[in-house]
Amino acid sequence: MLTSGLRAMKTADERLDELRRRKAQSEAGGGSQRIDAQHNRGKMTARERLEMLLDDGSFQEVDALVEHRCTDFGMEGNIIPGDGVVCGHGTIDGKAVHCFAQDFTVYGGSLGEMHGLKICKILDMAMKAGTPVIGLNDSGGARIQEGVASLGSYAEIFFRNVRASGVIPQISVIMGPCAGGAVYSPAITDFIVMVDQTAHMFITGPEVIKTVTNEEVTFEDLGGAMTHGSKSGVTHFTAGSDEEALELTRDLIGLLPSNNLSGVPNKSLGDSAERMCESLDSIVPEDPNKPYDVGEVISTILDAGAFLEVQADYAGNIVVGFGRLDGTTVGVVANQPKVLAGCLDIDASTKAARFVRFCDAFGIPLLTLVDVPGFLPGANQEWGGIIRHGAKLLYAYSEATVPKMTVILRKAYGGAYDVMCSKHIRADYNVAWPTAELAVMGADGAVQIIHRRRIEAAGNPEEERQRLVDEYTERFANPYQAAAMGYIDDVIEPSDTRRRLVKALGMLLDKEETRPARKHGNIPL
Ligand code: HXC
Repeated sequence: MLTSGLRAMKTADERLDELRRRKAQSEAGGGSQRIDAQHNRGKMTARERLEMLLDDGSFQEVDALVEHRCTDFGMEGNIIPGDGVVCGHGTIDGKAVHCFAQDFTVYGGSLGEMHGLKICKILDMAMKAGTPVIGLNDSGGARIQEGVASLGSYAEIFFRNVRASGVIPQISVIMGPCAGGAVYSPAITDFIVMVDQTAHMFITGPEVIKTVTNEEVTFEDLGGAMTHGSKSGVTHFTAGSDEEALELTRDLIGLLPSNNLSGVPNKSLGDSAERMCESLDSIVPEDPNKPYDVGEVISTILDAGAFLEVQADYAGNIVVGFGRLDGTTVGVVANQPKVLAGCLDIDASTKAARFVRFCDAFGIPLLTLVDVPGFLPGANQEWGGIIRHGAKLLYAYSEATVPKMTVILRKAYGGAYDVMCSKHIRADYNVAWPTAELAVMGADGAVQIIHRRRIEAAGNPEEERQRLVDEYTERFANPYQAAAMGYIDDVIEPSDTRRRLVKALGMLLDKEETRPARKHGNIPL
């Protein structure tokens, strides 16, 4: 008895060997053949991705030894420690993050019970520590052999994503398949980065669609990065490769706070707070109907011209994204006169509303640049619910208590004037350029409505119409009526915009504003 007991005891070296063997097995994932196949598809492995995402040597893995508990379909003989997802924490430019990377070489990265619970643990740890969480998705979806246990784990993840929403930033990077209900975890997170060509997201794939609706559509057309970046608006960034997606994620993390209480980040890019922006004095064309690129205004104002645009290929009539003002991260929302004359439509309203809510949740000050001729007219817009969707932006701005600064560059017409972070919905600092026009509508339209009979009765209708347009323009197409009423705080020289905004932001950073206590509001969804 004693002898066999002694024989069973392992030496310290043997114990270390066993640990190393188990870790090596976990690290090997699905084996060299499947790793080669992954590389041949132009994809990196889960571990290579984490290595590139995080600061050198900062990754600490957890749950490398977790195993699935499935005994159906011969699964008990096919155990790979780690269960197809590499989880842990590390740093990005020194900032702590939690992360997970699905390993497509292990059961196709499919999500079984334990794989899912590993991700849950990461989300729980990130919530406790107050760090952002980054998920690298590359998965065949629910692990078919595990049945409902897999669905249960998915829902545990979804629940945690919702609970973490507005508490810690959540970023999903789609680097392979992401199908069926599996798409809903990324959909709940704050930002989705998607790799072109190798990543696909859809609820039902091309074959099911063919059977049910008889539509023929390719994987790429249905759910590729271009589709989601420009058509569906599901994703926020499109990357050309795994490397580009990870680099972009690092940049994004640099701009974001760690959590909703940690305060907005500040990092100097070496740009002077006193820098004048002479080019802005002449950027607005004399002809009010001529477009210009608001992107130039944004990069001229922000530190070192650095702007990380979000959803750049979707609803181009509004531009949203992050930059810095004297080092402090700001969220920028700007009408783009180059696209649909900068009108607000359904897509622009929902895009900007979600962005504003993200910034507000995480204490990121908002800078709004206004040049908006109104909401886009059209039966399709009305039937699509522009009333409901436009209201989202109005709601989001009104609800936001972060510092809110608004510069009216040119047009601020009608309801869109109110919506685009006007003083009335509690912007803190509102200024206008001398080119600003704050009015119910453009002069041509206004004159047509209020003077139709007078124009028809005139001896020379065209001359009379022009005279009335000029009169209306003189009276309303300027910022001075609004300035006289205190609706804007000042009319400023465009070249002075950066300097003024930096000063205003400095004054507003410790601003406190509250709203009545309530369970939650009822944003028109
Ligand atoms: C178990 C899976 C799997 C899955 C793939 N594999 N998907 N194992 N469950 N869902 C395994 C394969 O058996 C294979 O194992 C390996 O992963 C690689 O798969 P391949 O088919 O060889 O790769 P590829 O040709 O690149 O195709 C990838 C794929 C395809 C497009 C993802 O595998 C596929 O269509 N899988 C099924 C997708 C699916 O219908 N999932 C369920 C969606 S519904 P070996 O051992 O050969 O390497 C869903 C519900 C979620 O997810 C609900 C949440 C609420």
